[in-house]
Amino acid sequence: MPAFWHWFVAAGTILFVIWCVWLVSWSAKQGPQNVADDDVVGHKWDGDLEEWNNPAPKWWLYLYIITIAWAVAYMIAYPGLGSWDGALGWSQQGQYEAEMQAAASRYEPIYAKFAAMDFEELSQNPDANQLGKSLYASYCTTCHGSDARGAPGFPNLTDDDWLWGNSEEALTTTLKNGRSGVMPVLAPALGGDKGIDNMVSYVQSLSGIAETDADAMSAQPTFLALCSACHNADGTGNPIFGAPNLTDDIWLYGSSDEAIRTTLVQGRNGIMPAHGQLLGDHRTKILAAYVYSLAN
Ligand code: HEC
Ligand code: HEC
Repeated sequence: MPAFWHWFVAAGTILFVIWCVWLVSWSAKQGPQNVADDDVVGHKWDGDLEEWNNPAPKWWLYLYIITIAWAVAYMIAYPGLGSWDGALGWSQQGQYEAEMQAAASRYEPIYAKFAAMDFEELSQNPDANQLGKSLYASYCTTCHGSDARGAPGFPNLTDDDWLWGNSEEALTTTLKNGRSGVMPVLAPALGGDKGIDNMVSYVQSLSGIAETDADAMSAQPTFLALCSACHNADGTGNPIFGAPNLTDDIWLYGSSDEAIRTTLVQGRNGIMPAHGQLLGDHRTKILAAYVYSLAN
């Protein structure tokens, strides 16, 4: 916090506390000596309910004094006055780190025990899967869904159809370093609207959801020239690029004319964020084994 704002906030707070002290002592002095027996304010409700000008009870006054004393003590002990750190040295960040540290030292031996196991064995261990499931719930549901079945653009992790592969190595790399699938904008190279339509039909014909008619087949040479480097000549995809298999009728973005057209016209760039830092090696392996177990 810049020095000016530190002093601005601190001075404002202190002046306010001083004002409270003054207000309480001033109003305490407006004691009963000023109150006559029939000192009525003049407000009247329901015919006979009147407001009297009596002093507040003493305990009310003490409550104010205690509150002010509490505020002063609190502001000395904890950060609250501008950038003052507080005499106790407490901070939100410090508390968070201490709690994380405590949790890590409690759970780390459990993680380490599981992480030492063989991957295949780990993926079949019910306790490890329970742990994997709760890690999944904390870190992955926002994108892949609570049932891991994904959503358009976010792959289904339960269907044994993989963009990047499902070996131990592939899954660990996916979780640790993240992935970025780049489908380039290729519509301009497809020869206008008709060319794009033909390519859409050809892609749909690969999985048998559209007829392999003359229009579709007219796009085959272009597919071999422009698309096969990533999706393979037969359209079965390539896990090196995360290029989807186009022949299995499982879709990341959808199989409608509209969805495939959008893929060609705008390109796609699905990003799986890196979680290595967040999870650490042991939890990454447990989670990778859990993901492996979903489709096996
Ligand atoms: C540079 C590699 C590359 C080339 C070339 C390429 N693609 Fe792709 N394509 C990808 C990747 C990677 C994805 C997945 C994008 C993602 O993960 O967001 C993809 C996604 C797609 C999808 C979406 C599939 C789904 O499941 O929703 C279609 C359809 C597609 N490509 C068709 C084509 C066609 C047709 C061509 C040629 C005109 C082509 N691609 C050329 C890499 C490529
Ligand atoms: C911010 C959204 C997001 C979060 C959070 C996220 N993912 Fe992903 N994940 C994606 C996207 C998008 C892809 C597809 C990347 C691509 O298009 O190539 C993906 C891909 C994957 C893949 C590869 C799937 C395949 O077919 O090869 C796996 C495995 C995976 N995620 C697991 C996880 C796990 C486990 C977590 C929790 C630690 C997680 N993801 C968290 C968005 C996310």
